[in-house]
Amino acid sequence: MRVLVTGGAGFIGRRLVRRLTRDGADVAVLDALVPSVHGEEATVPDLGGALFVRGDVRDPAAWVEAARGGVDAVVHLAAETGTGESMYRTCHYVDVNVQGAAILCDLITRREISPGRVVLASSRAVYGEGPYRTPRGEVVYPGPRSRAALEAGRWEPEGPSGESLSPVAADAASARTAPASAYGTTKLAQEELLRVALPPAGIGFVALRLQNVYGPGQSLLNPYTGILSIFSVQLLHGERVRLFEDGLATRDFVYVDDAVDALAIGLRVDVARTPAILDVGGGSRTAIAEAAEMLRRKLDAPPEAVAVTGEFRVGDIRHAQADLSRADALLGWHPSVPLDRGLDALTEWVRDVAASGSRLAPALEEMTRAGLLGQARRGLS
Ligand SMILES: NC(=O)c1ccc[n+]([C@@H]2O[C@H](COP(=O)([O-])OP(=O)(O)OC[C@H]3O[C@@H](n4cnc5c(N)ncnc54)[C@H](O)[C@@H]3O)[C@@H](O)[C@H]2O)c1
Repeated sequence: MRVLVTGGAGFIGRRLVRRLTRDGADVAVLDALVPSVHGEEATVPDLGGALFVRGDVRDPAAWVEAARGGVDAVVHLAAETGTGESMYRTCHYVDVNVQGAAILCDLITRREISPGRVVLASSRAVYGEGPYRTPRGEVVYPGPRSRAALEAGRWEPEGPSGESLSPVAADAASARTAPASAYGTTKLAQEELLRVALPPAGIGFVALRLQNVYGPGQSLLNPYTGILSIFSVQLLHGERVRLFEDGLATRDFVYVDDAVDALAIGLRVDVARTPAILDVGGGSRTAIAEAAEMLRRKLDAPPEAVAVTGEFRVGDIRHAQADLSRADALLGWHPSVPLDRGLDALTEWVRDVAASGSRLAPALEEMTRAGLLGQARRGLS
Protein backbone atom coordinates (compact mmCIF):
# COMPACT_ATOMS: atom_id res chain seq x y z
CA MET A 1 0.00 0.00 0.00
CA ARG A 2 1.31 3.46 -0.88
CA VAL A 3 0.17 6.13 1.56
CA LEU A 4 0.62 9.90 1.45
CA VAL A 5 0.65 11.41 4.94
CA THR A 6 0.33 15.20 5.08
CA GLY A 7 1.68 16.71 8.29
CA GLY A 8 3.71 13.52 8.61
CA ALA A 9 6.58 15.33 10.36
CA GLY A 10 4.27 16.47 13.20
CA PHE A 11 3.41 14.92 16.53
CA ILE A 12 0.84 12.36 15.42
CA GLY A 13 2.23 12.17 11.88
CA ARG A 14 5.74 11.02 12.82
CA ARG A 15 4.44 8.15 14.88
CA LEU A 16 1.91 7.19 12.22
CA VAL A 17 4.54 7.25 9.46
CA ARG A 18 6.92 5.07 11.46
CA ARG A 19 4.09 2.68 12.27
CA LEU A 20 3.00 2.42 8.60
CA THR A 21 6.55 1.91 7.29
CA ARG A 22 7.12 -0.76 9.95
CA ASP A 23 3.94 -2.47 8.74
CA GLY A 24 5.39 -2.55 5.21
CA ALA A 25 3.59 0.41 3.62
CA ASP A 26 5.37 2.65 1.13
CA VAL A 27 4.92 6.11 2.68
CA ALA A 28 5.36 9.63 1.32
CA VAL A 29 5.18 12.67 3.60
CA LEU A 30 4.11 16.18 2.62
CA ASP A 31 4.94 18.68 5.35
CA ALA A 32 5.91 22.36 5.37
CA LEU A 33 7.87 22.02 8.64
CA VAL A 34 6.20 25.17 9.95
CA PRO A 35 8.38 27.16 12.38
CA SER A 36 5.71 27.35 15.12
CA VAL A 37 5.95 23.56 15.43
CA HIS A 38 9.47 22.74 14.23
CA GLY A 39 11.45 25.90 15.07
CA GLU A 40 13.18 28.31 12.69
CA GLU A 41 15.87 25.85 11.71
CA ALA A 42 13.74 22.79 11.17
CA THR A 43 15.32 19.52 10.19
CA VAL A 44 13.50 16.54 8.75
CA PRO A 45 12.76 14.09 11.58
CA ASP A 46 13.45 10.36 11.40
CA LEU A 47 10.60 9.05 9.26
CA GLY A 48 11.70 5.43 8.99
CA GLY A 49 12.73 5.73 5.34
CA ALA A 50 9.56 7.45 4.09
CA LEU A 51 9.88 9.81 1.12
CA PHE A 52 9.83 13.40 2.40
CA VAL A 53 8.57 16.36 0.38
CA ARG A 54 8.81 19.75 2.04
CA GLY A 55 5.81 21.66 0.76
CA ASP A 56 2.61 23.40 1.66
CA VAL A 57 -0.85 21.82 1.43
CA ARG A 58 -2.04 25.11 -0.10
CA ASP A 59 0.20 24.43 -3.09
CA PRO A 60 -1.34 21.93 -5.57
CA ALA A 61 2.07 21.23 -7.11
CA ALA A 62 3.42 20.05 -3.74
CA TRP A 63 0.57 17.49 -3.46
CA VAL A 64 1.22 16.22 -6.96
CA GLU A 65 4.95 15.91 -6.30
CA ALA A 66 4.38 13.99 -3.03
CA ALA A 67 1.86 11.68 -4.75
CA ARG A 68 3.95 11.00 -7.85
CA GLY A 69 3.90 7.37 -8.88
CA GLY A 70 0.37 7.09 -7.43
CA VAL A 71 -1.04 6.64 -3.92
CA ASP A 72 -3.62 4.21 -2.59
CA ALA A 73 -4.58 6.42 0.32
CA VAL A 74 -4.09 9.86 1.84
CA VAL A 75 -4.00 10.55 5.56
CA HIS A 76 -4.59 14.29 5.93
CA LEU A 77 -3.05 15.56 9.16
CA ALA A 78 -1.39 18.85 8.12
CA ALA A 79 -3.18 21.69 9.86
CA GLU A 80 -2.88 24.66 12.13
CA THR A 81 -4.07 23.29 15.47
CA GLY A 82 -4.29 25.98 18.17
CA THR A 83 -7.83 26.63 19.36
CA GLY A 84 -6.96 29.88 21.15
CA GLU A 85 -4.70 31.17 18.39
CA SER A 86 -7.39 30.50 15.78
CA MET A 87 -9.57 33.18 17.38
CA TYR A 88 -7.26 36.00 16.28
CA ARG A 89 -5.49 34.42 13.29
CA THR A 90 -8.71 33.23 11.72
CA CYS A 91 -7.80 34.02 8.11
CA HIS A 92 -4.62 31.99 8.42
CA TYR A 93 -6.45 29.02 9.98
CA VAL A 94 -9.07 29.07 7.24
CA ASP A 95 -6.36 29.38 4.62
CA VAL A 96 -4.32 26.38 5.79
CA ASN A 97 -7.06 24.08 7.03
CA VAL A 98 -9.96 24.77 4.68
CA GLN A 99 -8.00 25.70 1.56
CA GLY A 100 -5.69 22.71 2.08
CA ALA A 101 -8.66 20.32 2.14
CA ALA A 102 -10.30 22.10 -0.80
CA ILE A 103 -7.17 21.68 -2.90
CA LEU A 104 -7.15 17.97 -2.12
CA CYS A 105 -10.79 17.77 -3.30
CA ASP A 106 -9.94 19.61 -6.54
CA LEU A 107 -6.93 17.41 -7.26
CA ILE A 108 -8.99 14.26 -6.71
CA THR A 109 -11.88 15.49 -8.84
CA ARG A 110 -9.48 16.38 -11.65
CA ARG A 111 -7.77 12.99 -11.17
CA GLU A 112 -4.41 14.59 -10.60
CA ILE A 113 -4.28 12.44 -7.47
CA SER A 114 -6.32 9.24 -7.33
CA PRO A 115 -6.34 7.69 -3.88
CA GLY A 116 -8.87 4.97 -3.09
CA ARG A 117 -9.47 6.54 0.30
CA VAL A 118 -8.80 9.56 2.49
CA VAL A 119 -8.48 9.42 6.27
CA LEU A 120 -8.88 12.82 7.96
CA ALA A 121 -7.72 13.68 11.47
CA SER A 122 -10.72 15.72 12.51
CA SER A 123 -11.30 17.03 16.01
CA ARG A 124 -13.79 16.97 18.83
CA ALA A 125 -13.64 20.78 18.44
CA VAL A 126 -16.41 20.37 15.84
CA TYR A 127 -18.87 19.85 18.74
CA GLY A 128 -18.07 23.03 20.63
CA GLU A 129 -19.44 22.54 24.13
CA GLY A 130 -21.28 19.43 22.96
CA PRO A 131 -24.25 17.54 24.42
CA TYR A 132 -25.45 17.61 28.03
CA ARG A 133 -28.33 15.96 29.89
CA THR A 134 -30.87 17.82 32.01
CA PRO A 135 -32.05 16.43 35.38
CA ARG A 136 -35.19 15.28 33.47
CA GLY A 137 -33.06 13.23 31.10
CA GLU A 138 -33.35 15.40 27.98
CA VAL A 139 -30.25 15.96 25.84
CA VAL A 140 -29.56 19.67 25.31
CA TYR A 141 -26.81 21.76 23.72
CA PRO A 142 -26.02 24.65 26.05
CA GLY A 143 -23.64 26.35 23.61
CA PRO A 144 -20.78 28.63 24.60
CA ARG A 145 -20.74 30.04 28.11
CA SER A 146 -21.23 33.79 28.21
CA ARG A 147 -18.42 36.12 29.24
CA ALA A 148 -20.68 37.41 32.05
CA ALA A 149 -21.12 33.86 33.40
CA LEU A 150 -17.37 33.23 33.28
CA GLU A 151 -16.57 36.56 34.96
CA ALA A 152 -18.99 35.58 37.71
CA GLY A 153 -17.21 32.23 38.10
CA ARG A 154 -20.24 30.28 36.86
CA TRP A 155 -18.15 27.68 35.12
CA GLU A 156 -20.63 24.90 34.43
CA PRO A 157 -22.86 25.18 31.34
CA GLU A 158 -26.48 25.67 32.31
CA GLY A 159 -29.74 24.36 30.87
CA PRO A 160 -32.39 26.55 29.20
CA SER A 161 -33.98 27.38 32.57
CA GLY A 162 -30.68 27.65 34.43
CA GLU A 163 -30.81 24.03 35.60
CA SER A 164 -27.61 22.07 36.24
CA LEU A 165 -26.50 19.68 33.50
CA SER A 166 -24.33 16.58 33.19
CA PRO A 167 -22.02 16.15 30.21
CA VAL A 168 -22.82 13.43 27.66
CA ALA A 169 -20.12 11.60 25.67
CA ALA A 170 -20.24 12.79 22.05
CA ASP A 171 -21.17 10.34 19.30
CA ALA A 172 -20.77 11.61 15.74
CA ALA A 173 -23.90 9.68 14.71
CA SER A 174 -26.15 11.73 16.95
CA ALA A 175 -24.36 14.73 18.48
CA ARG A 176 -24.85 18.11 16.84
CA THR A 177 -21.84 19.99 15.55
CA ALA A 178 -21.53 23.59 16.75
CA PRO A 179 -17.85 24.59 16.94
CA ALA A 180 -16.92 27.15 19.60
CA SER A 181 -13.69 28.24 17.91
CA ALA A 182 -12.46 29.17 14.46
CA TYR A 183 -10.22 26.09 14.62
CA GLY A 184 -13.26 23.84 15.22
CA THR A 185 -15.07 25.52 12.33
CA THR A 186 -12.16 24.79 9.99
CA LYS A 187 -12.06 21.13 11.07
CA LEU A 188 -15.79 20.82 10.38
CA ALA A 189 -15.30 22.49 6.98
CA GLN A 190 -12.57 19.93 6.17
CA GLU A 191 -14.97 17.09 7.01
CA GLU A 192 -17.76 18.61 4.95
CA LEU A 193 -15.65 19.31 1.88
CA LEU A 194 -14.27 15.78 1.82
CA ARG A 195 -17.69 14.24 2.57
CA VAL A 196 -19.20 16.07 -0.38
CA ALA A 197 -16.37 15.25 -2.82
CA LEU A 198 -15.22 11.75 -2.03
CA PRO A 199 -17.98 9.15 -1.48
CA PRO A 200 -19.92 10.13 -4.65
CA ALA A 201 -16.68 9.57 -6.60
CA GLY A 202 -16.39 6.08 -5.05
CA ILE A 203 -13.54 7.13 -2.76
CA GLY A 204 -13.65 5.92 0.83
CA PHE A 205 -13.70 8.64 3.49
CA VAL A 206 -12.93 8.16 7.18
CA ALA A 207 -12.86 11.12 9.59
CA LEU A 208 -11.75 10.55 13.15
CA ARG A 209 -12.80 13.23 15.60
CA LEU A 210 -9.81 13.05 17.90
CA GLN A 211 -10.03 14.20 21.50
CA ASN A 212 -6.92 15.54 23.34
CA VAL A 213 -4.01 13.51 22.01
CA TYR A 214 -0.95 13.51 24.30
CA GLY A 215 2.36 11.72 24.58
CA PRO A 216 6.03 11.97 23.65
CA GLY A 217 6.89 14.01 20.57
CA GLN A 218 4.38 16.86 20.74
CA SER A 219 6.04 20.15 19.84
CA LEU A 220 7.25 21.92 22.96
CA LEU A 221 7.62 25.13 20.95
CA ASN A 222 3.94 25.62 20.22
CA PRO A 223 2.29 27.28 23.23
CA TYR A 224 -1.22 26.85 21.78
CA THR A 225 -1.46 23.08 21.73
CA GLY A 226 -0.80 20.15 24.02
CA ILE A 227 -1.84 21.16 27.50
CA LEU A 228 -0.05 18.20 29.15
CA SER A 229 3.21 18.88 27.30
CA ILE A 230 3.03 22.56 28.26
CA PHE A 231 2.37 21.71 31.92
CA SER A 232 5.28 19.25 31.92
CA VAL A 233 7.74 21.84 30.61
CA GLN A 234 6.49 24.42 33.09
CA LEU A 235 6.87 22.02 36.01
CA LEU A 236 10.38 21.03 34.93
CA HIS A 237 11.48 24.65 34.68
CA GLY A 238 9.98 25.82 37.95
CA GLU A 239 7.30 27.88 36.18
CA ARG A 240 3.90 27.93 37.84
CA VAL A 241 1.15 25.93 36.15
CA ARG A 242 -1.88 28.24 35.90
CA LEU A 243 -5.08 26.20 36.01
CA PHE A 244 -7.82 28.18 34.32
CA GLU A 245 -11.34 28.48 35.72
CA ASP A 246 -11.50 26.32 38.87
CA GLY A 247 -9.30 23.58 37.44
CA LEU A 248 -12.28 21.26 37.16
CA ALA A 249 -12.86 21.49 33.44
CA THR A 250 -12.45 17.99 32.04
CA ARG A 251 -10.85 16.55 28.94
CA ASP A 252 -10.74 13.12 27.35
CA PHE A 253 -7.04 12.35 26.96
CA VAL A 254 -5.96 9.73 24.44
CA TYR A 255 -2.41 8.46 24.15
CA VAL A 256 -0.75 9.18 20.81
CA ASP A 257 -0.12 5.52 19.91
CA ASP A 258 -3.79 4.73 20.48
CA ALA A 259 -4.77 7.58 18.14
CA VAL A 260 -2.21 6.31 15.60
CA ASP A 261 -3.73 2.81 15.79
CA ALA A 262 -7.16 4.23 15.02
CA LEU A 263 -5.81 6.15 11.99
CA ALA A 264 -3.97 3.05 10.73
CA ILE A 265 -7.11 0.92 11.06
CA GLY A 266 -9.02 3.69 9.27
CA LEU A 267 -6.83 2.97 6.24
CA ARG A 268 -8.06 -0.63 5.96
CA VAL A 269 -11.60 -0.70 7.27
CA ASP A 270 -14.37 -1.28 4.72
CA VAL A 271 -16.25 2.01 4.24
CA ALA A 272 -17.51 1.66 0.66
CA ARG A 273 -19.64 4.70 -0.23
CA THR A 274 -20.66 5.71 3.28
CA PRO A 275 -18.35 8.15 5.00
CA ALA A 276 -17.25 6.85 8.38
CA ILE A 277 -17.17 9.78 10.79
CA LEU A 278 -16.47 8.72 14.34
CA ASP A 279 -15.01 9.64 17.70
CA VAL A 280 -11.63 8.66 19.08
CA GLY A 281 -10.59 9.38 22.65
CA GLY A 282 -9.62 7.72 25.88
CA GLY A 283 -13.33 7.31 26.61
CA SER A 284 -13.31 9.00 30.03
CA ARG A 285 -13.15 12.50 31.47
CA THR A 286 -10.26 13.70 33.62
CA ALA A 287 -10.25 17.04 35.43
CA ILE A 288 -7.39 19.20 34.20
CA ALA A 289 -6.38 19.76 37.85
CA GLU A 290 -6.12 16.00 38.35
CA ALA A 291 -3.92 15.54 35.27
CA ALA A 292 -1.72 18.47 36.40
CA GLU A 293 -1.39 16.90 39.84
CA MET A 294 -0.37 13.56 38.32
CA LEU A 295 2.31 15.37 36.30
CA ARG A 296 3.48 17.36 39.31
CA ARG A 297 4.07 14.18 41.30
CA LYS A 298 5.81 12.42 38.42
CA LEU A 299 8.12 15.41 37.94
CA ASP A 300 8.74 15.90 41.70
CA ALA A 301 7.57 19.53 41.67
CA PRO A 302 6.33 21.15 44.91
CA PRO A 303 2.55 21.42 45.57
CA GLU A 304 2.59 25.21 45.06
CA ALA A 305 3.79 24.66 41.47
CA VAL A 306 0.15 24.15 40.41
CA ALA A 307 -2.34 26.94 41.12
CA VAL A 308 -5.97 27.59 40.24
CA THR A 309 -6.18 31.18 38.92
CA GLY A 310 -9.78 31.81 37.89
CA GLU A 311 -8.58 33.06 34.51
CA PHE A 312 -10.56 31.91 31.52
CA ARG A 313 -10.17 31.83 27.78
CA VAL A 314 -13.03 32.86 25.55
CA GLY A 315 -14.02 29.88 23.39
CA ASP A 316 -12.80 27.22 25.84
CA ILE A 317 -15.21 24.41 26.43
CA ARG A 318 -15.91 22.96 29.88
CA HIS A 319 -16.17 19.20 29.36
CA ALA A 320 -15.30 16.72 26.64
CA GLN A 321 -15.63 12.99 26.21
CA ALA A 322 -15.84 10.67 23.23
CA ASP A 323 -18.46 7.97 22.90
CA LEU A 324 -16.34 5.10 21.63
CA SER A 325 -19.12 2.75 20.57
CA ARG A 326 -18.85 3.54 16.84
CA ALA A 327 -15.04 3.29 16.85
CA ASP A 328 -15.49 -0.11 18.43
CA ALA A 329 -18.20 -1.20 15.98
CA LEU A 330 -16.59 0.16 12.79
CA LEU A 331 -12.88 -0.12 13.52
CA GLY A 332 -12.80 -2.72 16.27
CA TRP A 333 -10.69 -0.08 18.05
CA HIS A 334 -10.49 0.89 21.68
CA PRO A 335 -7.74 2.68 23.60
CA SER A 336 -5.21 0.55 25.43
CA VAL A 337 -2.93 3.00 27.28
CA PRO A 338 -4.26 4.29 30.63
CA LEU A 339 -3.52 7.92 31.50
CA ASP A 340 -1.07 7.06 34.28
CA ARG A 341 1.10 4.96 31.94
CA GLY A 342 0.86 7.50 29.13
CA LEU A 343 1.97 10.29 31.47
CA ASP A 344 5.00 8.18 32.49
CA ALA A 345 6.05 8.05 28.84
CA LEU A 346 5.36 11.77 28.37
CA THR A 347 7.34 12.90 31.42
CA GLU A 348 10.25 10.62 30.62
CA TRP A 349 10.45 12.14 27.14
CA VAL A 350 10.00 15.73 28.35
CA ARG A 351 12.84 15.27 30.87
CA ASP A 352 15.09 14.26 27.97
CA VAL A 353 14.24 17.03 25.52
CA ALA A 354 12.92 20.12 27.30
CA ALA A 355 15.96 22.35 27.23
CA SER A 356 14.29 25.73 27.71
CA GLY A 357 11.18 26.98 29.48
CA SER A 358 7.68 27.12 28.05
CA ARG A 359 6.52 29.86 25.67
CA LEU A 360 3.14 30.07 27.29
CA ALA A 361 3.52 33.50 28.91
CA PRO A 362 3.95 35.45 25.61
CA ALA A 363 1.11 33.46 24.04
CA LEU A 364 -1.20 34.38 26.92
CA GLU A 365 -0.14 38.02 26.64
CA GLU A 366 -1.11 37.91 22.97
CA MET A 367 -4.51 36.47 23.91
CA THR A 368 -4.96 39.18 26.54
CA ARG A 369 -4.24 41.86 23.92
CA ALA A 370 -6.87 40.23 21.67
CA GLY A 371 -9.39 40.40 24.55
CA LEU A 372 -9.62 36.60 24.73
CA LEU A 373 -8.31 36.02 28.24
CA GLY A 374 -10.49 36.97 31.19
CA GLN A 375 -10.40 36.80 34.96
CA ALA A 376 -13.32 35.70 37.12
CA ARG A 377 -14.30 38.07 39.92
CA ARG A 378 -15.95 35.27 41.91
CA GLY A 379 -16.19 31.49 42.00
CA LEU A 380 -12.80 30.62 43.43
CA SER A 381 -12.60 28.90 46.78
N1 LIG B 1 -2.94 16.69 18.91
C1 LIG B 1 -4.24 16.70 19.22
O1 LIG B 1 -4.60 16.69 20.40
C2 LIG B 1 -5.28 16.70 18.13
C3 LIG B 1 -6.63 16.63 18.52
C4 LIG B 1 -7.60 16.65 17.53
C5 LIG B 1 -7.24 16.72 16.19
N2 LIG B 1 -5.92 16.79 15.85
C6 LIG B 1 -5.59 16.90 14.43
O2 LIG B 1 -4.56 15.99 14.12
C7 LIG B 1 -3.72 16.54 13.10
C8 LIG B 1 -2.27 16.46 13.51
O3 LIG B 1 -2.10 17.15 14.73
P1 LIG B 1 -0.71 17.16 15.52
O4 LIG B 1 -1.05 17.26 16.95
O5 LIG B 1 0.15 16.08 15.04
O6 LIG B 1 -0.15 18.59 15.06
P2 LIG B 1 1.35 19.06 14.76
O7 LIG B 1 1.31 20.55 14.76
O8 LIG B 1 2.33 18.38 15.63
O9 LIG B 1 1.59 18.53 13.27
C9 LIG B 1 1.03 19.20 12.17
C10 LIG B 1 2.05 19.12 11.04
O10 LIG B 1 1.48 19.78 9.91
C11 LIG B 1 2.47 20.58 9.32
N3 LIG B 1 1.82 21.71 8.65
C12 LIG B 1 1.20 22.76 9.22
N4 LIG B 1 0.75 23.60 8.27
C13 LIG B 1 1.11 23.05 7.07
C14 LIG B 1 0.92 23.44 5.72
N5 LIG B 1 0.31 24.59 5.41
N6 LIG B 1 1.37 22.63 4.76
C15 LIG B 1 2.02 21.46 5.05
N7 LIG B 1 2.25 21.06 6.31
C16 LIG B 1 1.79 21.85 7.31
C17 LIG B 1 3.36 21.05 10.46
O11 LIG B 1 4.67 21.38 9.99
C18 LIG B 1 3.37 19.83 11.37
O12 LIG B 1 4.47 18.98 11.10
C19 LIG B 1 -4.23 17.95 12.83
O13 LIG B 1 -5.05 17.92 11.70
C20 LIG B 1 -5.07 18.27 14.05
O14 LIG B 1 -6.12 19.17 13.74
C21 LIG B 1 -4.92 16.79 16.79
